[in-house]
Parts: sequence; structure tokens; C-alpha cells
Amino acid sequence: MILVTGGTGYIGSHTVVELLNEGFDVAIIDNLSNSNIRVLEGITAITGKKPLFEQFDLCDASLLNNFFKNNRVDAVIHFAAYKAVGESVASPLTYYHNNLVSLMNLLYAMSSYNVPALVFSSSCTVYGEPDSLPVTELAPIKTATSPYGNTKQICEEIIHDSIKAHPKLKSIALRYFNPIGAHESALIGELPIGVPNNLVPFITQTAFGLRDCLKVFGNDYDTPDGTCIRDYINVTDLAKAHIAALKRMQKSENESGFEVFNLGTGMGSSVLEVINSFEKTTSVRLNYIFADRRSGDVVKVYASTDKANKILGWKAEKSLDETLLSAWKWENFYRKSIAN
Ligand code: UFG
Repeated sequence: MILVTGGTGYIGSHTVVELLNEGFDVAIIDNLSNSNIRVLEGITAITGKKPLFEQFDLCDASLLNNFFKNNRVDAVIHFAAYKAVGESVASPLTYYHNNLVSLMNLLYAMSSYNVPALVFSSSCTVYGEPDSLPVTELAPIKTATSPYGNTKQICEEIIHDSIKAHPKLKSIALRYFNPIGAHESALIGELPIGVPNNLVPFITQTAFGLRDCLKVFGNDYDTPDGTCIRDYINVTDLAKAHIAALKRMQKSENESGFEVFNLGTGMGSSVLEVINSFEKTTSVRLNYIFADRRSGDVVKVYASTDKANKILGWKAEKSLDETLLSAWKWENFYRKSIAN
């Protein structure tokens, strides 16, 4: 069985779908702190299968150990973590406690029960503002600009050190660029609580009429149209990379024990390009204004995907247009479903 922590969250739920479609047995542990139990219905509607689900906090080591005692876990995909940059600046200890203790509890349990493989959710935030583009996995790790980013760096180090001490354990850290979109069925997608921080949920909520206006944070950057550039990757494409990583470890292809891979499309898009693509693909006009820069924003970042393409045999397939359309379909489906 594959244990997916945070499996009712945004990327976790899409990965659970891909795992079930590939025939894996899946168990989810999630404390539902930033997700909804109804996600399980979406997963089952898409796949016709029901993953095992347990609701508890990974910071509770005794509950976690019991889980490993009672279930045969073959590998772990670890998504469960806090992920809001601004919130992490306001509550650093909450972030360090949650993101580090949950990982350490998992690693202890995996070593006690001889579970050999861990896929870890990391982020391109570890590169900060890169010196050259596209950014490769060999780019230097920059001082983190937020406690959230720092937890990703520290977690990678904790895993790396643990592997050196326990060579039977293998791990792949996947550094996500900007995951967006929803499952093509529109039965699962991103569910931000409150006002979204991220661009695409803000766009879909504005288009739906829940927000008056999208603020484009800065149009005087040193980029062709003055707005920031990111590598927006479809969430289902991203989910599939986790299966590739899992299979690589199960076939013991990763001799080095700890590997990192960038997950992006290899293509940078500006905020204005995203807005234009959204308007074109959905035929919905978006109300937006230019506003001040957001503090802490990187100007330009997009991935070199060569390593993931060659070694994982994985490549992002979906276009920005179709991914934004999937986000829009999800926003509509979700709003109708909660209205009923
Ligand atoms: N943006 C706007 N208006 C908004 C929201 C975002 O103009 O209302 C802009 C941002 O300024 C940025 C771009 O849209 O230029 C993307 O912003 P997001 O908040 O969607 O994504 P970020 O790249 O800032 O952050 C994402 C993840 C973080 C992760 C980071 C790594 O959300 O968890 O990538 O670089 F740390």
C-alpha cells in the first residue's frame, strides 16, 4: 500500500487519483486542516475506487506509529504541510513545528517499519531568484525568504541526512514550480480557504464574481511586459510525476539514495500572459488593475526539465490554455455543488 499524507489536499488528491488509476492500493492520512472530506467523493467518482482514509495529525507520533503497525506500507508520498508564504512569516513557529515534526515522525516510523521509499513535496522556492534560467537542479540553494521556504530546504536536508545514516531508505524530492488547474473531470481541484493568495484561484474567483478585481502585483519589472514570470504546471501532469518517482525507487534505479527533480513545463509565462490565455480560452473578460509589487516576489523563474524528462521519463503535456480552462470548469462545478 502507498501512504499519501495530505491526500485530500490539492496536489495530494490529484496524485491519489493517478495512483488508483495505476492500480496501487492507497491510504490517505490527512488532518483536514486545509482540505475537505468531500474530496474523497470526488476521488471515488473519478476512479470508482475508495482509498483508505484516516484523519489525524502527523505531529502525533503515537497515532502515526499505530498506523504503520496496523498497515503494510510499501512507500510514502508526503504532501501534508502548511504552504502559505505570508502566513509563515506571521507564524513561523507554527510552520517550523508542523512541517518539520510531521516529517521527522514519518521518518522515524518508516525506519521502525522498514519502509524503503519516500517521495517528498518540495518547491522551486528553494532556488529563490535564480542566477540563470532555466533553473536546473544544480543551481545553488538560496537563503529562504520565508519560514515556509525554509521548511522545504530544511526538510530536504533532514531527508538527505537520514538517508546517509540509513542507506536502505531512498527518497526523491520533487521541486514544484507553480501547480495550477484541476482534474479534467472537474470533480476535484484547488480549494483555497478564504481569499486566495495564488494567481489562478484569484483569477477564477474574480471571473466567477466572488472578487471585484484581480490586482496584478507590479507591471514595472524587468520582463518583456513588466509582470513577473513563472512556470505554471498542470496539476495532473504534476501528479503523474509522483508515480514515475515511486516506480523509479521501487525498481531501485536511484542508486544515490536521494535525488531531486524539477517539475515544471520549462516555459515561463508572465501574469499578463496568464490573464490573456484565461480570457481567450474561457471567453470571459477579467476585471484587473495594476497594483504595487508584492513584497518577496521573485521576478522570473522557470524550470529546466531535462533531468525529469530523461531520468523519470516524465514530461508535462497539457498546455496553459487547457489547464486554465480546467481551473475555470472546476470553479463553476464547485460553486454549483456547494450551492446545492
Ligand atoms: N499575482 C498577482 N496577483 C494575485 C496573485 C498573484 O499578480 O492576486 C502574481 C504574483 O505577484 C506572481 C504570480 O502572480 O508574480 C504568481 O503568484 P502565486 O502567488 O500564484 O505564486 P508564487 O510564485 O508567488 O508562489 C508559488 C507557491 C509558493 C511557492 C512559490 C515558489 O504558491 O508556495 O511558488 O516560488 F513558495
